[in-house]
Amino acid sequence: MEHPPQARHRDCDVLIVGAGAAGLTLALQLAPHVRVTVLAKSALLESSTLYAQGGVAAVFDEQDSIDSHVQDTLEAGAGLCHLDAVRFTVEHSRAAIERLVAAGVPFTHDETTHSLHLTREGGHSHRRIIHAADSTGRAIETTLAELVHRHPNIDVHERHIAVDLITAAKLGRSEPRCLGAYVLDREHGMVKTFAARFTVLATGGASKVYLYTSNPDLSTGDGIAMGWRAGCRVANMEFNQFHPTCLYHPKAKSFLVTEALRGEGAVLRLPDGSRFMPRFDPRAELAPRDIVARAIDHEMKRLGAECVYLDISHKPAEFIQSHFPTIYAKCLEFGFDLSREPIPVVPAAHYTCGGVMTDLNGATDLPGLYAVGETAFTGLHGANRMASNSLLECLVFGQAAAEQIRAQLEQIAAPQGLPQWDESRVTDSDEEVVVSHNWEELRHFMWDYVGIVRTDKRLQRAKRRANLLLGEIAEYYGNFRVTNDLLELRNLTLVADLIIRSAMQRKESRGLHYTLDYPEPDASRQPQDTILVPPNYRQAPRSGG
Ligand code: FAD
Ligand code: SIN
Repeated sequence: MEHPPQARHRDCDVLIVGAGAAGLTLALQLAPHVRVTVLAKSALLESSTLYAQGGVAAVFDEQDSIDSHVQDTLEAGAGLCHLDAVRFTVEHSRAAIERLVAAGVPFTHDETTHSLHLTREGGHSHRRIIHAADSTGRAIETTLAELVHRHPNIDVHERHIAVDLITAAKLGRSEPRCLGAYVLDREHGMVKTFAARFTVLATGGASKVYLYTSNPDLSTGDGIAMGWRAGCRVANMEFNQFHPTCLYHPKAKSFLVTEALRGEGAVLRLPDGSRFMPRFDPRAELAPRDIVARAIDHEMKRLGAECVYLDISHKPAEFIQSHFPTIYAKCLEFGFDLSREPIPVVPAAHYTCGGVMTDLNGATDLPGLYAVGETAFTGLHGANRMASNSLLECLVFGQAAAEQIRAQLEQIAAPQGLPQWDESRVTDSDEEVVVSHNWEELRHFMWDYVGIVRTDKRLQRAKRRANLLLGEIAEYYGNFRVTNDLLELRNLTLVADLIIRSAMQRKESRGLHYTLDYPEPDASRQPQDTILVPPNYRQAPRSGG
């Protein structure tokens, strides 16, 4: 069906691609000053944010300090955190929480002191996790989404998936700049042009590149792939975090069992009932996630076990039911009573530590383009993200990017003369099976060859397969009309390739990247980020404007 040109074109001041904690924070901060457009590729609420359980790390306890939170983050990050990013994030943690409280997020309070209840997770030396029982993300996402819906300056477009960024370079203009994005309206099957003075990638992570993941289906690395294609550098993609404890049940779809359970005393057991974490680390179950996930993987492989067990049954049933109501109910659905027995768990891909490189304001290499949240690489997480630091990053960097964009808006004119999406040389696909087959293949080989434990040989195998898929998908993309599945597969394959290339460059084991060929960190030089530079990268001052 032909759509009139006006239906295909939108002018925005600020275009935010993504509606999780990062995108919505940014939208709400900017909306009092400027018109904002928010895209979500599914329903507005659907996001990793919605499923976050444990909470948000912030310094509130009187015994705690900024320095201690900084120190714990650096330690978990295994030598690769950027100190300026860590300090910046932690110093802004309290204000970020206070904004959420003011916005009406129903965090859990301590029954006796009535102050915010603080729980504990791996790597944290203090109680510093602010939470809403065990569904913190839902409390944050629904509160922010409600405010966004009510705000007269925010236009929300659900079921709109960004295809690619529109750059001045692609239009043959000399001044490098992002000018907006092409966006597929999934309902009407039409690609629209969103022209924007500023564009923000807030598309979340890429854990869907792995066969088993705690993430919702939308975590396909779209922002990282779009940023890369637009000429932005991408860093530290080899550091994909595997969460140690996802429920093991064929129908549970890797349902996450929060680390806060271990924070409140749950222990890990082998099938024979014995504990094993004290053999791997003095912090036992509260060691950073990479250590726990690797220990589980090691024990499962050693014993040929399908899973290990997480046991909190020694705690009173009311404590478990009141602190972990969502998990308790979910486990019951699958026939496990958390308050009476250990539950079966396995690791699953959980978090993308790498991403589009930004400065402390979320500005990328391309003027006019920002990246915030899991899509971004700010330097905060280093080689391993500490639990509950990622929602914090979304909140702090969402705010910082909003402030910088606002300060520059007046100097930037609305982009003019952007061409419409050209569909004149493509047809409808007659072989959708190519997409579903390649999707399956990709996620299998990434799990088998680029998972918790890697080797040079496995990475080479993965690279050969990724090359093949990249070629096939490029051909398919050039010939057929875009669909949601094709766009996601195209992005996932590119991101898989970036992960493999980064992993191949790192000839050491560090944090989340563990390889049998180089089992120790390289002590001969300072730890270094893995920075991949796209062929169309043009060095520009990082002003963000
Ligand atoms: P998301 O919340 O993932 O949102 C991404 C948004 O981008 C969505 O709206 C999506 O529709 C949109 N989008 C994506 N691609 C496109 C596109 N091409 N076009 C248009 N829109 C697009 N972190 C913590 O700090 N504490 C926790 O307790 C915690 N628990 C977690 C539990 C689970 C089960 C999971 C999966 C993650 C958890 N994390 C936790 C990690 C944290 O939730 C995420 O890192 C964080 O929510 C990411 O937020 P975001 O705004 O960057 O992206
Ligand atoms: C969890 O609740 O275990 C997840 C916390 C996180 O990913 O930060």
